[in-house]
Amino acid sequence: MAIKNITQKIDMENLPRHIAIIMDGNGRWAKSKGLPRFAGHWAGAEALRDIVSNCSKLNIQVLSVFAFSSENWKRPVQEVDSILNLLLYYFKKEVDSLHKNNIKIVVTGDWEALPKRIVCEIKKCIQRTRNNSGLVLNIVLNYGARKELSRVCIDICKDVIEGKLKVHNIDEDIFRKYLSTKDLSDPDLLIRPSGELRISNFLLWQIAYTELWFTEVYWPDFKPKDLLQAIYEFQQRERRYGGLKNKAGE
Ligand code: IPE
Ligand code: IPE
Ligand code: MG
Repeated sequence: MAIKNITQKIDMENLPRHIAIIMDGNGRWAKSKGLPRFAGHWAGAEALRDIVSNCSKLNIQVLSVFAFSSENWKRPVQEVDSILNLLLYYFKKEVDSLHKNNIKIVVTGDWEALPKRIVCEIKKCIQRTRNNSGLVLNIVLNYGARKELSRVCIDICKDVIEGKLKVHNIDEDIFRKYLSTKDLSDPDLLIRPSGELRISNFLLWQIAYTELWFTEVYWPDFKPKDLLQAIYEFQQRERRYGGLKNKAGE
């Protein structure tokens, strides 16, 4: 249920440090308006701008956004092209304002395998914003968690073979150091719009204890008030990590 005056209800001392969003529902949003799918992707990019700026104002430390999955290559080539062109446009157009707002851009996923013109632009954005100390905007691109976890296994095996790592020393902390998100905390809150109740191969290791929040709203219609609603509901949850509420078990 939507809460009135949601801003006043948010506990500014208990904000999620890392929010992750699966930006889904662009195609259905476009279809519902009789528009082509790519119009939904463009509208989705607009929605992102507002959410980034709100996360930045709220002093959220990290915002991870799933922009293109390694499985999205299964889509028609025209759609993939329009998404990639949009990414290029977004990186070029937004970098000035992101930089001005002290936002640091990082990119997770196999983005270096994307077309050269996009890779160049991404490199420029990362380089330009690398010393910023505000919100970390983690754009998750050409990413699939199963691929990432398989790659981690390969890298660990190589290090064992080369004698850099002993098998008996491998534990969760070591494993984490091989993840592409090794410099980021795990998401505290994962938001999935569009009514789908699944993870779709996003950050599988990292979300082990993340609070999940789903909404029917399509991503292009997702507004700052929805973000605040998600944060408010996150703050009502009790995170136990497998333990008990208090040591006495009451
Ligand atoms: C999410 O919206 C954007 C990407 C996956 C790139 P969709 O394109 O998946 O939209 P729906 O789910 O078909 O509505
Ligand atoms: C997840 O959405 C990927 C992104 C939002 C980038 P999909 O639309 O690809 O996921 P499925 O196919 O509904 O699981
Ligand atoms: Mg989808």
